[in-house]
This record gives sequence, C-alpha cells and structure tokens, in this order.
Amino acid sequence: MKDIVILGIESSCDDTSAAVIRNGLLLSNVIASQSVHEEFGGVVPELASRAHQQNIVPVVDSALKRAGITKGDLSAIAFTRGPGLLGSLLVGTSFAKGMSLGLGIPLVDVNHLHGHVLSHFIREQEGDEVPEFPYLTLLISGGNSQLILVKSSDDMEILGRTIDDAAGEAFDKCAKVMGLPYPGGPHIDRLAAEGNPKAFKFSKPHIAGLDYSFSGLKTSFLYTVRDGLKQSESFIDDNRADLAASVQRAIIETLMHKLEAAVKQTGVKAVAIGGGVSANSGVRAAVEEFCASRGLRAWIPPRKFTTDNAAMVAIAGYFKFLRGVYCPLDAAPFARLEI
Ligand code: KG4
Repeated sequence: MKDIVILGIESSCDDTSAAVIRNGLLLSNVIASQSVHEEFGGVVPELASRAHQQNIVPVVDSALKRAGITKGDLSAIAFTRGPGLLGSLLVGTSFAKGMSLGLGIPLVDVNHLHGHVLSHFIREQEGDEVPEFPYLTLLISGGNSQLILVKSSDDMEILGRTIDDAAGEAFDKCAKVMGLPYPGGPHIDRLAAEGNPKAFKFSKPHIAGLDYSFSGLKTSFLYTVRDGLKQSESFIDDNRADLAASVQRAIIETLMHKLEAAVKQTGVKAVAIGGGVSANSGVRAAVEEFCASRGLRAWIPPRKFTTDNAAMVAIAGYFKFLRGVYCPLDAAPFARLEI
C-alpha cells in the first residue's frame, strides 16, 4: 500500500510550525517561536503575521528535510483554518493552498482545537499507545477552558466551557499583577514549586453545570496583592512563591472540581488533558492522581505537544484524509471556530 504522508502547517497565533507524519508516525515537527512580542506583554497580531511570513518557508523546508522526504512524497497538506488570529491564519492558509495547488495534492483544513484534542494520537514510534474512544478531554490554554467528550476523531461534544477568562488567562493575568513577564503561566509554575499553596485563599466560582469561570479568582488575587502592598511595599517580593503556589492551587481546584463532575456524568474510563496550561506541573500531577485513585487511564501529553505545534495539525489532518474529507482551494480561515 502507498505511504500516506501528511505535511501539517500551524500558524494560528505566534508559533510558525510544520510537521510531517507518515502513516500516522511523526517524522518531524519544527517550531519557530516569535520573541518579538515579549516586550509588549502579549501577542501583537500584526507583528505575528509578519513573523509568520518570514518563518513559513524555512520552517516547512526544515520539516521536510528532517523527515528525510521531498515534497513529491507528500499525499496532502493539512493546515490550521481556525480559530486564531486572522492575519496569522492567512499566512498558513495561503501557503498551504499554494503548495496543494502546485503539487496537485489534496488540501485538508484542521480545527486548531481538534488538533489539541487529537495530540494524544501523535505516535513517535511503533508501539506508542493511543486513547480509546470515548474519553474526556480537559482542554486548557490561553484562549480556552473546555471539557470535551471525545466520541471519535470527528465527533466531539463540549460539555462545559469558561464563561469568561480561560485558565491560561488567569495564570497570565495574575502573573502580570506580580510583575512577571508574559506569558506568566510557566513562571507561576516554576515559583509555585517553592511556595506554600495554602498561604493565601482566593474566592472560588459557583457556576452551575460544567462551565468554568476564572474572572472572580483574578479579581480576588488582585485585591489580595493590593491590600498586601498597602501593608508593605515589599509584599510581592516577600510572598512571590506563596502567591504563585496559592493561585496555582486555586486554578487547579477549580479545574478538577468540574472534571470530577464530568467524569461522573459521562462514566468515561479515560481522561486526557491538552493545550498550553496542560504543561503545568501541578495540573499534570492533579490529573494523574485523580485518575489513579479512580482506576481511570490518564493521558498526559509530552510537554512539546501541549503548546501550539504542527504535529497535532498533521495527525488531525491524517484522520480527515483517511475519511476523504478535503478542503476547497477557495476556503477562508476563521478567527472563531467551535470544536
Ligand atoms: O495552547 P497555548 O500555547 O496557546 C493558546 O492559548 O492557544 O497556551 C498558552 C497558555 C498561556 O496562557 C501560558 O501562560 C499557558 O498556556 N502555559 C502555562 C504553562 N505553560 C504554558 N500555564 C501554567 N503553567 C505552565 N507550565
């Protein structure tokens, strides 16, 4: 049987990435991150789009070389169609279309969120295990906090989602209050390892059903710091690790509370996590422990597949290619897209 070789292209935010998957096995995954945004404390869409234009050709070239293939070996081009920053998405979309047209091979559009969910199906070597359907995914990133019932590679049901901030935003905004650089999530993670998670208490959300809310926690954190600074100018410096550990604990408890309810409601036997925040040490440990104590299988992604990457786009594209679901060449990207 002829090999199925998929090139995945990801450009939804501030990472330009290309990956090659052959018969479901990952051959390469190249990511060019953009440091240009650091001094602005967040992603600047126009700068992101320009950086993608500079990066896309060398990144794709490097992904093909590292995979040890040429473009003539490709079966299809998969690309992220949304959600994301429109200017950024346009670069990947246009490039993918050009390549598909030039090579005369199918174009496959991928929902970025499907990519995160399906990242557990990226196999780096023969024998790597993958989840069995159905299972539950806690998708937590800078833009999303969702509980998703994954019934198959193309049938996913959102059981709950944030009604305001995403978990990543809660990490980043609280980090900003403490004067930490953007994105603050990884800094809080590092600091939390040395702090006391019970040093400070923050208000918890009371939202019905399986939805999340993180805006109250953010405000509660802000007030704690503001009041602390009134008592002592060095409040943040004196309590940095304890503040980080306490806010991380509050975010994790909120996430786990609804995850537990979702497991009860669905009766699934496995729980997966995905998205940038799933790189957090505390989140990973909490989900592992939760699953171990209930006899559930935990799917914790390698850290390199938690943030934006093209390997997840390629695997999601591979599933669509197997189903024969292609994308027309006049397809436009979507800034907003549901799972
Ligand atoms: O999935 P992602 O790379 O981008 C999107 O938002 O789509 O997620 C980025 C988010 C940021 O909010 C970042 O602070 C957070 O993931 N993050 C973390 C950690 N690593 C990344 N949050 C907490 N702990 C971490 N170790």
